[in-house]
Amino acid sequence: MSTNTKVTEIVKDFYRISTFIPEVNMQFNQFLVVDDEPLLFHTGMNALFSAVHSAVGLVINPSKIRWISFSHFEADECGSLNQWLAEAPSAQATCSLIGSLVSVNDFAIRPAVSREDGERFNTGNYQFQFCATPQVPHAWDAGLLIEETQKVLFCSDLLHQMGNVEPIIEDTVIVERFKQTLDGYDKGPFAHYLPYTRHTQNTLERLAALEPKVLLPMHGSAYIGDGRRVLLETAEMMKATLDKPL
Ligand SMILES: [Fe+2]
Ligand SMILES: [Fe+2]
Repeated sequence: MSTNTKVTEIVKDFYRISTFIPEVNMQFNQFLVVDDEPLLFHTGMNALFSAVHSAVGLVINPSKIRWISFSHFEADECGSLNQWLAEAPSAQATCSLIGSLVSVNDFAIRPAVSREDGERFNTGNYQFQFCATPQVPHAWDAGLLIEETQKVLFCSDLLHQMGNVEPIIEDTVIVERFKQTLDGYDKGPFAHYLPYTRHTQNTLERLAALEPKVLLPMHGSAYIGDGRRVLLETAEMMKATLDKPL
């Protein structure tokens, strides 16, 4: 396993697997949910497969993974999907309908189970709701999962924080850190990282209304606390930061 890869149990049965990549000054996080049908949210890139595989192996037998989910079709979200599908014979990807139609079913060695907005599925002790969130954080196919028993929202690139930060924070400063990321990406080769569309506010308010207690970003610390407040502050911050004339 990469010496940079760390495993932290954020809440019972929810593990954050995090690898800091200094060249881009950010962490790449995958999340393992231990249940009768174990779920991995984000696979990470192909190059991370052996590190993530070893990290999962510290907690469960990696070949037992049943569900592989992610927000949108990008390498850090699902780059090593086929390596995981080969490793875990009963694993299936599960993502948005657009994701499966436009990318995943062409790319993956087995078809995905696509989900409609609001659709629920059970993994044993835990129940997940799929939320279709096109262009939030970005990409047409974007969707997010919330686990309803422990109120854990997997938020992909939302709340992206730079640096090799702590596994967990309980302070709403996470919104300020996310703003710093967006400000840093405002110009230059990484400009236009996240869009602000006429649906952004409504989508973030809809996620806030789910009242998550844990937020799990792909890049940066996990947040434990008042997720509703953080998402509403994020909506306000994104409007002020991104919704402005050129
Ligand atoms: Fe992304
Ligand atoms: Fe990402």
